[in-house]
Amino acid sequence: MFKFNFNSDDNDDNRDDLKIKDDSACFVECQEIQSSTNRHYDLKNVRTKLLNINNTNIKYICNESLLDILKTNQHLSEDSILKAEEKHSDLLPAVYEGGLKIWECTYDLLDYISENQVDFKDKLVLDLGCGAGILGIHSLLHQAQCCWFQDYNKDVLENITIPNIELNCKESLDRCRFFSGDWHSFVEYSEKNYPEAKFDYILTSETIYNTGYYMKLHLVFEKLLAKNGVILLAAKSFYFGVGGGVHLFQDFVDSKKVFKHTNCWQSTEGVKREILKLEFM
Ligand SMILES: C[S@@+](CC[C@H](N)C(=O)[O-])C[C@H]1O[C@@H](n2cnc3c(N)ncnc32)[C@H](O)[C@@H]1O
Repeated sequence: MFKFNFNSDDNDDNRDDLKIKDDSACFVECQEIQSSTNRHYDLKNVRTKLLNINNTNIKYICNESLLDILKTNQHLSEDSILKAEEKHSDLLPAVYEGGLKIWECTYDLLDYISENQVDFKDKLVLDLGCGAGILGIHSLLHQAQCCWFQDYNKDVLENITIPNIELNCKESLDRCRFFSGDWHSFVEYSEKNYPEAKFDYILTSETIYNTGYYMKLHLVFEKLLAKNGVILLAAKSFYFGVGGGVHLFQDFVDSKKVFKHTNCWQSTEGVKREILKLEFM
């Protein structure tokens, strides 16, 4: 299913999409999830942890603790998460895309946002590939006007993202919307149901590991970013074993000629990680 294909003989005329093919195997229809959806476990039974970013505290559900609950009550979820867990895998392409745990680059982006005092007051924010929803929660705690949370897996939104919002800013739930499913379908759904929706900020962390998804990711950016909006994208420079990475994504974006990008931050130790800022040309 992984169709990334650079051909060294390609000339510049063929660089239109850098031969990155859309990955049609990954297609789960977009669904809007209501925050009132019944969660079948009691928040009191799950362990939580605390994250502190420059005086902003964010409480979040400990993924191991939630997994224990889901394992002993298998009827509580669609089992995408459990399938990945059985295989001891962080990701099962097109089944479970990794939203349960908080990935490293989320912390980088939080630090960047806080150190650079990104102003969310009255802004419309999209947390794309939200997983635990920490980036969106941070924007809500900093007075974003609304935040949409999108994750491939309904299970993740219902069992982690929404409960995390409840733990931090329950009163903001009516300023949020939740969408599961594939990015391509998400664009179609929002264009049909929310044709006016355009975001001042799209925050996205660890979403460029699979080059087969670049076209639809770019489509979300193109269709949902406001004219003067900003995309902050945090990712590893290379995703060994999966194929994607920052430089491949930058090449892809360049080939499309829709967005300009700047590299705002790079890690100096550990795994190489970066933050990109994208804006319309
Ligand atoms: C590796 S997880 C990162 C989660 C979170 N942003 C973090 O940093 O902790 C990748 C995220 O992108 C979403 N995602 C990946 N591919 C997707 C696709 N084709 N359509 C929709 N969502 C996708 C997944 O659901 C997941 O939330």
